[in-house]
Amino acid sequence: MPSLFKRFFARLPMARSTRAYDFALAQVDLSRAARVLEIGAGQGFGAAHLSRTLPQAQVVSVDITTECLKPERLETGPRPPLFIQATAPALPLAAASMDAVFLVMTFHCLPQPQQVIREAARVLKPGGVLILADVDGHHWMARPFEWVEHAFISPLTHAYTPEELAELTARAGLVDFHIQRRPGKEKGFMMWAFATKKPPR
Ligand SMILES: C[S@@+](CC[C@H](N)C(=O)[O-])C[C@H]1O[C@@H](n2cnc3c(N)ncnc32)[C@H](O)[C@@H]1O
Repeated sequence: MPSLFKRFFARLPMARSTRAYDFALAQVDLSRAARVLEIGAGQGFGAAHLSRTLPQAQVVSVDITTECLKPERLETGPRPPLFIQATAPALPLAAASMDAVFLVMTFHCLPQPQQVIREAARVLKPGGVLILADVDGHHWMARPFEWVEHAFISPLTHAYTPEELAELTARAGLVDFHIQRRPGKEKGFMMWAFATKKPPR
């Protein structure tokens, strides 16, 4: 990965946006969540935002690299996020330990996508929710997005369609898969996928 481009990309204001997190948080009630996992910390702004918005929760944020992370620049909540360097297909976390797993603008560039969703399902508590915000593979911008990513960021990038995500989550045993889009921006390129680990009967 060309590290210079990655560092430049990380400085863009859009890389600090927490709007995708806010829309997700408005769809699910995490006010009683004790532990929340983010896969793909990037600069850490998303994890810091989660720690402010969910002050009762311990946020854990995993990334394969700490290259972009600037902990000293982050405004965190009362419990600062715990940043862990690890790869998404092999999370060093206990089974059934998380109330929610966030993947914001990250799933498209991960290796072993089915294994990543299985890992997310493994670490979720029964009743816990997977929240995946990313580029909709059906949108016309998905192909140019993939070209740019392949050229400068990652050869792995794939913009998943809702149907592909539905299949990946179902195979991992998650239920209640559904897609949400911002009201008034239904034709935008961002989509939010939600799926739940079956609660105990
Ligand atoms: C575009 S950033 C998204 C950061 C943040 N979620 C946000 O929305 O601002 C994607 C992140 O995924 C991380 N990543 C890439 N491959 C990974 C892997 N195998 N395991 C964990 N994280 C990975 C990258 O290092 C990068 O920080």
